[in-house]
Amino acid sequence: MSNLLPLTLKVNGEEKTFLASPHASLLRVLRDNYYWDVKCGCEEGDCGTCTVLLDGKAVKSCITLAHNCAGHEVWTDKGLGYNDEITRMIQDAFVECGSIQCGFCTPGMIVAAKHYIDHGGIADRKEIRKAISGNLCRCTGYNKIVDAIYKVAVELGREVR
Ligand code: FES
Ligand code: FES
Repeated sequence: MSNLLPLTLKVNGEEKTFLASPHASLLRVLRDNYYWDVKCGCEEGDCGTCTVLLDGKAVKSCITLAHNCAGHEVWTDKGLGYNDEITRMIQDAFVECGSIQCGFCTPGMIVAAKHYIDHGGIADRKEIRKAISGNLCRCTGYNKIVDAIYKVAVELGREVR
């Protein structure tokens, strides 16, 4: 208990101060503070289910040292869903395309998709697969997930001509 240190982050638009061990991952700090939409899978950087945006960049929170994020901005799938139009479009597309299969990997997939779309992602299935290659679906497969991201890219006028 005694080696917990204060850590201030901006999470989903709100400045928060947590107590965290110097070695805690960002994933641990988020989940210990009720951000349960950030899922915990492998905790080794392999599955991508813990993906969040850190200053706009998709990162695996399980291999990100929480104290290195002090003063920085973190967005989770849920926070983005309430505040960001692109994320809402992606979430709707996941529902419409049946991409929420087991659902466990979904928050991380949506954050990875948001990162892709925010960085000029186009309606190209190969590129979309590359963009979500750090996020594993262990239950069913990627086709419907790719369909959803493709749909959003088309809706944004990013077809490849
Ligand atoms: S829990 Fe972070 S990559 Fe698997
Ligand atoms: S839909 Fe999440 S693991 Fe397959």
